[in-house]
Amino acid sequence: MEALASSLKQLMSARQPMVLHRKAGIFPSSWAFDLSLAATQRSLAAVPGARMRLYGNGQELPLTEDLLPQPADQHLAGWLDRVQLRQPGLILNNVQCLRPEVWRWVRQLLGGVFAGGMPAGGCSLEVFTGRYRESFFGLHKDDQDVVTFVLEGTKIFYVWPFEVFSALAPGLQPLGNHGLPDVDWRQHLDLALRLEARPGDIVYWPAEAWHIAAADDPDLLTTTLGLGFFRGGNPAQLCADAVAAALADGDIPELPPFFRDAIPQGVAEILNFLGQPSVRERTEDQLLSWLTGYGFTTLPEPVEPSEVPARFHAVARGGISSLPRESQRVVGACGRLFRIPEHPFLLDLLNSLASGATLHRNAWQHDEVGPEVVDWILTELLSVDAIEAA
Ligand SMILES: [Fe+2]
Repeated sequence: MEALASSLKQLMSARQPMVLHRKAGIFPSSWAFDLSLAATQRSLAAVPGARMRLYGNGQELPLTEDLLPQPADQHLAGWLDRVQLRQPGLILNNVQCLRPEVWRWVRQLLGGVFAGGMPAGGCSLEVFTGRYRESFFGLHKDDQDVVTFVLEGTKIFYVWPFEVFSALAPGLQPLGNHGLPDVDWRQHLDLALRLEARPGDIVYWPAEAWHIAAADDPDLLTTTLGLGFFRGGNPAQLCADAVAAALADGDIPELPPFFRDAIPQGVAEILNFLGQPSVRERTEDQLLSWLTGYGFTTLPEPVEPSEVPARFHAVARGGISSLPRESQRVVGACGRLFRIPEHPFLLDLLNSLASGATLHRNAWQHDEVGPEVVDWILTELLSVDAIEAA
């Protein structure tokens, strides 16, 4: 799969839209139904970043139980046959928060793409499924490079260079978000690149590109999984946002009047300081290290418990890193983030793993930390192949 990662990296570097034929093909398309069910059954308000939108009969529809996928439907086609909507479609955002194994599948397939670190704005995974003739948003562009895995049906993407429509959006930056729903894109096909893709194919277009997804036969089910690389993110801006949020929350209490008066000027100086290239680079380095070069900014759900080997050692390519956060500790490894209690014994365990030494499970007991906590942490690390039996 390194050849695939290398092809994608070249395309991303050249900003060149393209279809890579028959490069995937192992993604179980039934997962899209599982993800739809998971989104239906969970309270999405409790899943950071997760979002579901349903379209049909020419409009966005309310997420009512009778219209959403149910277990008895058994597959996406069964759901669509039951609900009988005209041109139905379902969009799920940030599905890695619903099922971490989807991210694991992408990471295994494209691991090399992330070897140099994650994009500054993070990544997300989206499912698009339905029987519809074209994208619900009309002609638009996003703030992310998109890698789309076609899981089901034949998809056609028309892609235009930024310059073709930029005059219609004055002030829009090449990495910005914008929609042109009133533009009849069919009138501009002579300037478009047509990318046709079938299950197993991977499609890439850069954030700069205007695009629309279409289907030749709107009666056939199409399902895609999109991986977004957010190029426009700026960790310095994240820090500035954090400073502004702290000020708004009154986290800087009881300042003498002189400093209170000086805060607006101080904030401006902090923002300037954070925006300097050297500071920005360091901030990005820290974030990349924290996220171990793969990760997402939201914490996935805990994994199911499994057997912990008697002897194990770390094999995480990007290392196992951790940071104290809100009286707990956030651990990052191979694209997974999870919180553990802040305790010197557990920090010692993480540091020992980071050393590469082979550890014996029985040697890691502590009166204040239950064995179930140690086993749970090791299970999390096993689930992303950050450690393995020795
Ligand atoms: Fe898009």
